[in-house]
Amino acid sequence: MSDWISFYDFKHSVIYVNARHRDVHYRGIAEDIRAYVPSPAALVLDYGCGEATSADLIAAASGHLTLVEAAPNVRAALAARYAAHPKISVLTPDEAAALPGGSCDLIVMHSVAQYLNVAELERLLGIFRKLVKPGGLVIVGDIVPPQLAAPAAAWALLRFGAANGFFWAAVGGLMRIFVSDYLRLKKTVGLSHYTEAAMLEKLKSAGFNAERAPRNIGHNQRRMTFLCRPA
Ligand SMILES: C[S@@+](CC[C@H](N)C(=O)[O-])C[C@H]1O[C@@H](n2cnc3c(N)ncnc32)[C@H](O)[C@@H]1O
Repeated sequence: MSDWISFYDFKHSVIYVNARHRDVHYRGIAEDIRAYVPSPAALVLDYGCGEATSADLIAAASGHLTLVEAAPNVRAALAARYAAHPKISVLTPDEAAALPGGSCDLIVMHSVAQYLNVAELERLLGIFRKLVKPGGLVIVGDIVPPQLAAPAAAWALLRFGAANGFFWAAVGGLMRIFVSDYLRLKKTVGLSHYTEAAMLEKLKSAGFNAERAPRNIGHNQRRMTFLCRPA
């Protein structure tokens, strides 16, 4: 198991500075994803969904929402949270990969690609290419460009905190991240960064017609979202 998966498998990941940050974050992501749901009957898959505390917003606009999460404790919490929800199911990555080909109208993978090495990303893009319906959409979001990624992320978090009433918690959270395993993992396992051109090339090789979306999903507009349709 990738160490990044273990990093995210805490009950409360240090990446969210407090519960308000986590909930505002997931609400914003869910609202942005909901805008891409093509029809009320659409079958939607969110790969690497994390805690997904507002997934019901996406499910309400869809026929069915499949949440896929590799971190076992996070997945167990999702399964408990949405156990009674008639339109949400929770799967492991292996279970998702085994879904029938052409079964999804919309697949989203947001803020996950930076934790994957090149081979893992290519493998996943191949799975998404198989799972998406002809005419469907795959969204790869929060792609981190190479330059100044860490200061830009810190600055974006402070601005997000200031706009949503948790600025000082964001300052404290940054310090906590600094002494957490994040920096050690960044050095040992690494984070993957892509330019716009490199990501477009990768998506093309995986069999998609891809374009960069006008805005990134979520609050960090220095990062990039790509809209990919099967070629
Ligand atoms: C920053 S969270 C993103 C959560 C959510 N999609 C969002 O946008 O807030 C990163 C997610 O990547 C997942 N992840 C990290 N490494 C992974 C890997 N090798 N395979 C699959 N998922 C991975 C983690 O389990 C975690 O849920």
